[in-house]
Amino acid sequence: MTAAAAQPASAGPPEEGRFAPGTVLAQRYRISGKLGQGGMGEVYRATDLLLGQTVALKFLAARRAAGESALERFRSEVRLARQVSHPNVCRVYDIGEIEGSPFLTMEYVDGEDLASLLRRIGRLPSDKAAETARRLCAGLAAAHEKGVLHRDLKPANVMIDGRGHVRITDFGLAGMAGDIAPAEIRAGTPAYMSPEQLAGKEVTRRAISTRWGWCYTRSSPASVLLKPQV
Ligand SMILES: Nc1ncnc2c1ncn2[C@@H]1O[C@H](COP(=O)(O)OP(=O)(O)O)[C@@H](O)[C@H]1O
Ligand SMILES: [Mg+2]
Repeated sequence: MTAAAAQPASAGPPEEGRFAPGTVLAQRYRISGKLGQGGMGEVYRATDLLLGQTVALKFLAARRAAGESALERFRSEVRLARQVSHPNVCRVYDIGEIEGSPFLTMEYVDGEDLASLLRRIGRLPSDKAAETARRLCAGLAAAHEKGVLHRDLKPANVMIDGRGHVRITDFGLAGMAGDIAPAEIRAGTPAYMSPEQLAGKEVTRRAISTRWGWCYTRSSPASVLLKPQV
């Protein structure tokens, strides 16, 4: 493993979560630990006892009310992610519900998200960075070919497995090109938005690619704009 290789999630002690390791959900998924969490959900590693495979389960974070809109968001995440089939895009399988809590099942990536990898090692060696960029562009292009705009591309939504393979995850804010309501344009993470998205104008394939540029350089429109011009 090189300095830039991700640490398999199985290497560290499992994080505390609302489901203790060993809990069996829906008589099918045995939880082995919490993998991470973002603004919207909590992700757990589990064994699918029916198929004998490891999967990742994403639940709505406990602090978020599981109303109809949350459920619809989960459904939309699955619908959109399922349209994209590419080695650099995390596969999402299905949606389910346990005691009123919706969850989705997806491919388990035994690795680390790019945000925590960068926190841990500072920066990627240049050859690794170029390869990661190439893979991310390939995954994004596959999504764009299907008309799917990710809209929340940032290091925390990119997984790198123990062999350095890259997967784009979290289609929670994704939308179809041309089908994004004006009120939704600025949904996402401001630090990684393109200038036109920040201004509430539009979300296009170009805007998503700009986002990738910000991820890659670790700058953001806000920090660029705030920098004194020289
Ligand atoms: N398929 C996966 N395999 C392993 N870890 C994952 C997977 N998906 C997400 N994670 C971890 O969980 C974190 C939160 O997941 P994410 O889908 O981004 O949730 P949110 O919608 O709340 O941002 C990610 O940053 C990553 O660390
Ligand atoms: Mg996320």
